[in-house]
Amino acid sequence: MTRKKLIEVALPLEAINTASAREKSIRHGHPSTLHLWWARRPLASARAVIFAQMVDDPSACPEEFPTEAAQAEERERLFRLIEKLVQWENTNNEDLLQEARQEIWKSWQRACCDNAHHPRAEELFNPNRLPAFHDPFAGGGALPLEAQRLGLEAYASDLNPVAVLINKAMIEIPPRFAGRPPVNPEARTKEALMEREWKGARGLAEDVRYYGKWMRDEAERRIGHLYPKVKITPEMAQERPDLKPLVGQELTVIAWIWARTVRSPNPAFGHVEVPLASTFILSSKPGKEAYVEPVVEGDRYRFTVKVGKPPEGAKNGTKLARGANFRCILSGTPIEPNYIKAEGQAGRMGARLMAIVAEGPQGRVYLAPIREHEASAREALPQWKPSGDVPARLTGGTCVPYGMRQWGDLFTPRQLVALTTFSDLVDEAIAKVREDAIQAGLPDDGIGLDEGGTGATSYAQAVGVYSALAVDKGANYWSSLCSWNSGFEKITSTYGRQAIPMVWDFAEANPFSESSGNLLSGFEQAAKLLGNITTDWIGRAGQSDAQTQNISKDKIVSTDPPYYDNIGYADLSDFFYVWLRRSLRPVFPELFATMAVPKAEELVATPYRHGGKEEAEKFFLEGMTKALARLAEQAHPAFPVTIYYAFKQSESEGNGEARRTGWETFLEAVIRAGFSITGTWPMRTEYTGNLKKNVAALASSIVLVCRKRPENAPTATRREFLSALKEELPKALRLLQAGNIAPVDLAQAAIGPGMAVYTRYAKVLDAEGRPVAVREALSLINQVLDEALAEQEGNFDPDTRWALAWFEQFGFGEGEFGVAETLTKAKNTSVAGLLEAGILESARGRVRLLEPKELPEDWDPALDERFPHWEVLHHLIRRLEQGGEEAAAELVARLGSQAETARELAYRLYTICERKNWASEALLYNALVQSWPEIVRLAGERDKETQAQAGLFAVQE
Ligand SMILES: C[S@@+](CC[C@H](N)C(=O)[O-])C[C@H]1O[C@@H](n2cnc3c(N)ncnc32)[C@H](O)[C@@H]1O
Repeated sequence: MTRKKLIEVALPLEAINTASAREKSIRHGHPSTLHLWWARRPLASARAVIFAQMVDDPSACPEEFPTEAAQAEERERLFRLIEKLVQWENTNNEDLLQEARQEIWKSWQRACCDNAHHPRAEELFNPNRLPAFHDPFAGGGALPLEAQRLGLEAYASDLNPVAVLINKAMIEIPPRFAGRPPVNPEARTKEALMEREWKGARGLAEDVRYYGKWMRDEAERRIGHLYPKVKITPEMAQERPDLKPLVGQELTVIAWIWARTVRSPNPAFGHVEVPLASTFILSSKPGKEAYVEPVVEGDRYRFTVKVGKPPEGAKNGTKLARGANFRCILSGTPIEPNYIKAEGQAGRMGARLMAIVAEGPQGRVYLAPIREHEASAREALPQWKPSGDVPARLTGGTCVPYGMRQWGDLFTPRQLVALTTFSDLVDEAIAKVREDAIQAGLPDDGIGLDEGGTGATSYAQAVGVYSALAVDKGANYWSSLCSWNSGFEKITSTYGRQAIPMVWDFAEANPFSESSGNLLSGFEQAAKLLGNITTDWIGRAGQSDAQTQNISKDKIVSTDPPYYDNIGYADLSDFFYVWLRRSLRPVFPELFATMAVPKAEELVATPYRHGGKEEAEKFFLEGMTKALARLAEQAHPAFPVTIYYAFKQSESEGNGEARRTGWETFLEAVIRAGFSITGTWPMRTEYTGNLKKNVAALASSIVLVCRKRPENAPTATRREFLSALKEELPKALRLLQAGNIAPVDLAQAAIGPGMAVYTRYAKVLDAEGRPVAVREALSLINQVLDEALAEQEGNFDPDTRWALAWFEQFGFGEGEFGVAETLTKAKNTSVAGLLEAGILESARGRVRLLEPKELPEDWDPALDERFPHWEVLHHLIRRLEQGGEEAAAELVARLGSQAETARELAYRLYTICERKNWASEALLYNALVQSWPEIVRLAGERDKETQAQAGLFAVQE
């Protein structure tokens, strides 16, 4: 026996979405700061989903909550808990987490009782041991991390070694060394520190910080001379009066800005390498503008830097048009893409220093190039460079056509020297930590991290893992594909977007500065994250293909698979892999055995890898079905499996056709894999800004809640399917509304209960015996949903029912009086009555509904004898718009229970507007529902106040 879980009935979506969107701006202690991974899930949604998939829905516990009211109350309590749980500030709130874990345990105890006679009861339903968690597409690790935080042993697997390493760093290593004090000599000699309690991974964090600092200082000793400071001289200040106050000062350079060069195609200047500069703007910050000004003297040129408003055209540098179209700075001759490609491929592309960005006492200082600085860069002689091919084709662009074919080509010689020095130092740091650990009394069992060791060698390697990740994270800022962002005055990392496009004028960061892309910050961020990690439950991360894995056996599964062709993880991550492999191959020989990240089994629909679009689609669908079938077969039977489906950009941007097919294909894979679907929850991880632009803006992803379909699932006819839908959808709809789901999310969320009906059957057959396809099922579900919403009209008064029908046809526009009158007959009201109610205007044979902003401000329901639900709703909207939630609450307090119907009406009106594409009206109705809980809360407070005052007066009287 299994009980329905909360996620199969209701979720506080709004709170989850808001917290997820907020989390995007968190900079400290978040997993995203450990290392780049693409398409990371917000921790908030991961946490809420796993929690709700483990706790019973109150309706499944009638012995405790016998009435619907009791169930609703209990659900509310669980909602409140989730609303707190998803807040970033509560990530480490032990009391709250403990409360959540207890809820999970309570449901687990019920499951064990229910299944005491299960044939595998001992393995599957041990009341003293929760099942473990597994995510077979773990990526950046948000889901396993959150499962662990909720008190589960966590298993993470991914095909990609970079992802595996990130997961090891998050869930596997910290618990292994939990509670250990740091081993570095500084921490050991400080008595105060010795007295500190080294909770969780804080000791490890302290060591990551200490040895990071050691690595940085050591690296500076070895290669610091390649990164000269700038001394501001009186000569420099002569041309630039703004530099006067800085004369004599030595400033640290943040970045050197280079322009790539090719020989001029003009034969008269063929001996000169001319710059390919896409812009001359250095700072576009108002009041702080700076730009490069080229000075041409015969067949030579040099760069100067000026402050103040740039001349027209500076923003285009030497660029003539989009793409690789430039002009020769000396002759104006166009330099065409094919010429640049040929020069690049022949190894004749160079670079010339355009400007220097230094850190001044009051912000960035932009300086003209200095000969010695250009020379220091050229002094660097790399001993090693990574090999391996850069992907020649990539959505979003690649630099391969310009001759940057191998990963090593993406770095300047100085960047190669720096990265090899840092990666050598990882190895040296490991040796040093090991010695210090032995000194600190940690026995050395000689067993490495990979074999599960916990002694000095393993501990040293653990510090090495975070060090390698910090260096690798830095590499993102230390390639010649980083550009200078003149608006924010900072470096844009290599992966500013998910591609490897050519960058013409690049910014070479100084890893020893204190600005973005400095070496030390990587260690600091890793240490902060370690401070935020739960270490009480073990974790394991390993490399595994989701299509064949056995790790999910008897585990709780929540997973976030790749999204069709959105991101080529394997292609992109080779950039990082080559450096990680250099530092960590001795620690994880198997994980880093291959020269590059495995690609063949990656579940991404890449036409160039699979020989065409169709083949790619087939590969993806079959592979995904196989991977999902592994989950249907293996996952623990007491819990649903949750699967994230993210819309592709083209899908979420309202290309209806694409959205339908992508979504349908995925649903089909899920069903084919042997799952039935019991819930579909729209998740929005972006701010709702989008909503304002487009009413059809959908959630960025959907969480599918799935259960294994029983072997003996029956077959149904189309008619049986339809009547089951009609029976079950209205109830599900009411539950969703009671959970205050935003109208914009209602249709997607209602697909869940609809799909639950469709997928409970092995097959649904039409009158001719042909299977009803997913597409048709979806359209039937929508149709029944519409009917169910229309049926709710029965709860409204006749005036409102009239207004609804009128609105559907005319919106707030005008229509003929005669039509209005005929409609009143059908709805059992009269035009005169509607005018009296104050929702209509009639003039010269035409009528129209009044817009909220036209309604009288001083409306008082107590003095109005005819106020339909329509009027109430639009007065509430007017107040919300003009005076905010407080003003709306004031009216709700006066209306009492009559206000509730307004919310139902808002759902109905939203659906109409959405269908008609009336974006601004739809927004009004959506906004009212979204603010509803707050409005009701404020109204309740008002009520209490009024009662208290009444009491006070009573006493005074
Ligand atoms: C959407 S991402 C997961 C993101 C993750 N939830 C997070 O929060 O960072 C999908 C992952 O699937 C992995 N992947 C692709 N094909 C795979 C396969 N055949 N087996 C296992 N993992 C695979 C990719 O490497 C990628 O990390």
